[in-house]
Amino acid sequence: MLSIPIIAASTRRDRQSIKAARFVLARLQQRAGVATELLDLLEYNFPIMEERLHHRDDPPPRLEEFAGKIDRADAFIIVTPEYNNGYPGVLKNALDYLLPEYERKPVGIATVSAGGFGGISCLAQLRQVLLAMGAVPVPESLPISHIRDSIKEDGTPSDAAYEKRAAGFLDEVIWFAEAVADRKARDKKA
Ligand SMILES: Cc1cc2nc3c(=O)[nH]c(=O)nc-3n(C[C@H](O)[C@H](O)[C@H](O)COP(=O)(O)O)c2cc1C
Repeated sequence: MLSIPIIAASTRRDRQSIKAARFVLARLQQRAGVATELLDLLEYNFPIMEERLHHRDDPPPRLEEFAGKIDRADAFIIVTPEYNNGYPGVLKNALDYLLPEYERKPVGIATVSAGGFGGISCLAQLRQVLLAMGAVPVPESLPISHIRDSIKEDGTPSDAAYEKRAAGFLDEVIWFAEAVADRKARDKKA
């Protein structure tokens, strides 16, 4: 069973990208052989990072739980809004707490915008950050535009095209998750 949790990266009041996170979660839950769950940064509510987890003997509440889930994951997905052409500070704050947990870990990125560009400026920046941490950004992405109208409150897309795009995106995330998991299993046996 592959573990592929999903980070929901907006903590904003009236946040819209949580609908996209619900959509990705529901479609990933339909995949055989995959265990997934939402890691909602609003619920974790991590304080401003003073030091990485592994240099802290007084970690903030639930940080070790979050780290364990990322560590055990075969891959993870980030569903993030675009803020000022970048990713939200709350996402970078959470990501910066960890490091060894990301090593060779495939990461799928779904970006969300209010307008028509789907958050692709944010996508480019987030890929650079993930590479710096030793993670492996999956080449396929899932940009979601006009979020107020494109995804309903329950996570159902209004435009059927998103079903096809999400399916292709998840195919690739799962492919990379399997590939890396297989290789790590071989390394363990050797
Ligand atoms: C501080 C801030 C900056 C934003 N900058 C952008 C931007 O650069 N490009 C864009 O398409 N949308 C931008 N938006 C709109 C968000 O993409 C929009 O709020 C959308 O609903 C997703 O974010 P949410 O999950 O926080 O609602 C911005 C929103 C905020 C609050």
